[in-house]
Amino acid sequence: QLAGYRHYMQKEIFEQPEAVADTLEAVAGGARLTPALFGPEAEKTFAAIDRVLILGCGTSFHAGMVGRYWLEEYAGLPTTVEIASEYRYRVSVPDAKTLVVAISQSGETADTLAALRHAQGRGMTQTLAICNVPESAIVRTARLAFLTRAGPEIGVASTKAFTTQLTALALLALTLAKQRGRLPEAVEANRLDALRRLPAALGRVLQLEPQIEQWAQRFAERQHALFLGRGTHWPIALEGALKLKEISYIHAEGYPAGELKHGPLALVDREMPVVAVAPRDDLLEKLKSNLQEVRARGAELFVFAEDGSGVGGEEGVHAIVVPSHDAMLAPILHVVPLQLLAYHVALVKGTDVDKPRNLAKSVTVE
Ligand code: M6R
Repeated sequence: QLAGYRHYMQKEIFEQPEAVADTLEAVAGGARLTPALFGPEAEKTFAAIDRVLILGCGTSFHAGMVGRYWLEEYAGLPTTVEIASEYRYRVSVPDAKTLVVAISQSGETADTLAALRHAQGRGMTQTLAICNVPESAIVRTARLAFLTRAGPEIGVASTKAFTTQLTALALLALTLAKQRGRLPEAVEANRLDALRRLPAALGRVLQLEPQIEQWAQRFAERQHALFLGRGTHWPIALEGALKLKEISYIHAEGYPAGELKHGPLALVDREMPVVAVAPRDDLLEKLKSNLQEVRARGAELFVFAEDGSGVGGEEGVHAIVVPSHDAMLAPILHVVPLQLLAYHVALVKGTDVDKPRNLAKSVTVE
């Protein structure tokens, strides 16, 4: 069953090109974006909304955070993302013109299901599930569904579910952009082309594994680690930190790099390795100046850069170059090295990678 891999987590990380390709099947070949991707009633539902609320827990919540950037930038829809266990008990203001998107790999997470029902109970009936399990409670509860095609995810640490959720959210943001007249045909063709090339791009990122493995020992000796990113790569930093703490039991925090001076910089010293996600985007120069602040405090920097990012080469700054791809889709590629880093640190530490202590694959109780 492990097909030559040492753990399910490693196998599932390497299955990502195929999982993403399968998730994109409906737009393979010459197919165009259409609301029908999200169910027969989607066109009507999408026409009736003017904002989006995304609900999820853990990794699925992080996917939602990336989705928010995309929905606002491309579809022009005001979007909020909430941790399901908070939303379900919060006194919030219901709005019938909101599309409520529940994201869940299992479709059985108690808090996400309860949050979805809570929204429905308050008159928010335009609902969409992004889910990996077709017959799950969350799919049955939502009006619309988009099924990710990650296949069974056995490892407790979510990997291929995350990249397929991001793929689904990219399709959602672009479909809504198109329906709202914000995606000219030529741009749609380019975006679809970039999506279709994503599995091959993921394959190239996976080839970085031997380089990433060489960093693992450095982390395994430490008690703490800090992950930094900006924009759509802030949630990727959060996800990298979650993966590391979940399977290696090293305390890890993810931060938007611009927040450093507002507190976390006080933690930074020689003992604190700092991981940065540094694609070549509009925020790169800002991120670089944040990284200089970190370096000035003696912390060792481990940067996942992109060709031309111009990071690395100095003492104490280690860099691995992640192959370039379409800027919108960069977070889908940049999370993969962080998954591999967590995996290899856990191997060095000898933890139970697929079944980390105290955790269950599916959290069906509060
Ligand atoms: O099945 P779900 O996507 O609803 O699960 C949500 C979280 O429990 C899950 O993503 C959890 O955070 C993972 N173990 C993280 O790797």
